[in-house]
Amino acid sequence: MPDACILGIESSCDETGAAVVRSGREILSNVIASQIATHQPYGGVVPELASREHLRAIVPVVRQALAEAAQTYQSIDAIAVTQGPGLAGALLVGISFAKALAFALQKPLIAVNHLEGHIHSVLLDSELLERRQSDNGTLDFPVLALVVSGGHTHLYLAELRENLWTYRNIGRTRDDAAGEAFDKVAKLLGLGYPGGPIIDGLAACGDPRAVKFQTSQIKHPDRRTASRRREPEAQNGETKEDGPRFDFSYSGIKTAVLRHVETEDLKPAIELRRQALAGVSAPALAEVLQLCDRHTLDLVASFQRSMVTDLVAKTLAAAREYHARTLFVSGGVAANRELRSTFEREAAMQGLPVFFPSRALSTDNAAMIAAAAYPKFLSADFVGMDFSVEPGMALR
Ligand code: KG4
Ligand code: ZN
Repeated sequence: MPDACILGIESSCDETGAAVVRSGREILSNVIASQIATHQPYGGVVPELASREHLRAIVPVVRQALAEAAQTYQSIDAIAVTQGPGLAGALLVGISFAKALAFALQKPLIAVNHLEGHIHSVLLDSELLERRQSDNGTLDFPVLALVVSGGHTHLYLAELRENLWTYRNIGRTRDDAAGEAFDKVAKLLGLGYPGGPIIDGLAACGDPRAVKFQTSQIKHPDRRTASRRREPEAQNGETKEDGPRFDFSYSGIKTAVLRHVETEDLKPAIELRRQALAGVSAPALAEVLQLCDRHTLDLVASFQRSMVTDLVAKTLAAAREYHARTLFVSGGVAANRELRSTFEREAAMQGLPVFFPSRALSTDNAAMIAAAAYPKFLSADFVGMDFSVEPGMALR
């Protein structure tokens, strides 16, 4: 297969990313300008501020990615950019810049779905690369891919057709995404933003069996009656397909945590913690830990255990149902240590090989966009200057 250096650009949410990846597997550079400090006072991403920050960061970030990769605008073979899903104004910054570059340099332009980027971040994992090299590069399909992030909780069944990956959605969240639940629970407990990494760190210090979240709080559809029905309303332009679905629902557990806070009278302690952390940008885990009593740590650990148990159980049930040969777990929440260790243990019991991106590549980055673009580069699957932002883009 021909070698190609692809410049990837990512700006779908609150990270401005640029990276150069050789032939879909070797990261030559991966630069990320994070906007966490900008959005932290609001406890979530403010779209207008995100667009402005992308505008400020895009040129220096791309320049740095080229310099670190010892490449120039002229030496790269193609430019890949996230088309969607994401915030329209944020996506537009990356797309406009990528179009301008492609036009000025007369280089091919490749549009990448952000979710496909997350899935392909797994291919940058060194263990998987080693295994593929020793196995003549083969990967066993179908691959079941769980993409679990702040905006998405999706299960895709991926196949390889004429060297291009194709996807079928077999599960999604019906309300909050898993990362959103981590962020909202952290916010309501006064733990700071973003919540996932903080909860991940604190959960190790609590008792995950202390608070019981009934399974009805995370709805499990009754597979005998619900699983064979058609999807009532296809979302994001996805087609309605027959076959069992494995949907998720995480707004209930957030409400259950809120109830627990009210009935156990945790609010005064939460307010004190919130005040202590106000204005501290990116507090260290030890700092947050000092402000948490045993009850809070147990609550956090129990919340995380419930989330992990549900994500793993539904994903592995889907893998059995669809005879998946390989499992990929990606997206920001895939950085969660308990999620990784539970998947590793439970998938092994099922004889299913499971792969993750490195923890650093689990959250948004541009290397994954450049990696996902490589098969499209080989198939000359390029876009013209008239392609546009797709905030609700489906993955097929
Ligand atoms: O993939 P990502 O960077 O952005 C989206 O595409 O949404 O994911 C960000 C999400 C946030 O909700 C964040 O709280 C969560 O991933 N996250 C984690 C961890 N690290 C990031 N959730 C649980 N445990 C973590 N270690
Ligand atoms: Zn993402």
